[in-house]
Amino acid sequence: MAKLTEIGWEEFSGLSLDEKSPYLARCEGDGLPYHTLFAQQFDRPLLERLCALANRIRFINKSKEGALYLKSVLAHKRAMLYFSQPSSRTFLSHLAACQILGITTGSVRDAATSSEFKGESKEDSIRTFSSYFDMIIMRSPEQGLAEKMAWELSNSDRPIPILNAGSGKDQHPTQALLDIYTLIRSFENKGGVDGRMVVFCGDLLRGRTVRSLSYLLTNFNDVKQVFIAPKELQVSDDVIAILKKKGVRYEISDDLKAGVKAADAVYMTRIQDEWDSTKGASAKIETSHFKFGAEELKLLKPDGCIMHPLPRRDEIATCCDRDPRAMYWRQMRNGMWIRAALIAATFGYERAIMDCGY
Ligand code: CP
Repeated sequence: MAKLTEIGWEEFSGLSLDEKSPYLARCEGDGLPYHTLFAQQFDRPLLERLCALANRIRFINKSKEGALYLKSVLAHKRAMLYFSQPSSRTFLSHLAACQILGITTGSVRDAATSSEFKGESKEDSIRTFSSYFDMIIMRSPEQGLAEKMAWELSNSDRPIPILNAGSGKDQHPTQALLDIYTLIRSFENKGGVDGRMVVFCGDLLRGRTVRSLSYLLTNFNDVKQVFIAPKELQVSDDVIAILKKKGVRYEISDDLKAGVKAADAVYMTRIQDEWDSTKGASAKIETSHFKFGAEELKLLKPDGCIMHPLPRRDEIATCCDRDPRAMYWRQMRNGMWIRAALIAATFGYERAIMDCGY
């Protein structure tokens, strides 16, 4: 089995994501990740296992006895939430997931409140957290930082798993897991996810959720991906290169209404102006045709669904919120269950939960 302790950082960082994945496995043969860093670590059997575990956790948690059992499962573990970028959902759903499993948590939500402010390196900060905790859930504006920290920790005297809760403009693997979980649940008893058309709309260039979900969707059969955006914010060539390599059907467009008519799922995203290199640059881009409102709602199939990783601004009108096809609120709650599943599986408690008597 490939191990992060047997490869130098320079060599590891030069590998493709597919080549890196075996180094991040929990143990030989069980298919689960130890460090969760990017979407390329998940294949379809693993996605289905995690969704089944999430369903099991949400069912067990319905009764007081079941909830108390779940709280006992990982009561001996502690997790650190290290978020150096703003977050509501990802932070709180990981926190709630830990609480469901009985995991005690600590947090740093702003590097200015930690000793990084005094000049401590990120490597030393992570080593510090690993002295007190058994897992680090981290969000950072820096692309690739979670990978570097996973390598550092695996080569330290206290290796603990890292979950990437969003890194730069690049990856948001646990968001993609909850998006897939939402799609699977939305199309349950309606023929499933295979053969569907998923339309992405908005800032596809800088939206890390789109990049991770686009990859996870390649695990399903014959799913067509349509990318609808202003040309300045269209999806990047590396995403398209993956789709071409995998023989996935895709289309690039700027016509949201046509996309909505044909779509099974419409995944809206916010303009990510926090990444503007010049302040106000995004505001100069014409985005008015990339908003989902009452007209688009009329065009959407009766069993279609509207998704959004949130937070939103005005790219989905609030008049859509009460429509049964609006899945974005459910998406958020699904995040808590799938993250609980991922954390439990990372610690090796998948079978203990799946096979318990509740
Ligand atoms: N979807 C998402 O990452 O939301 P937050 O930024 O609120 O965590």
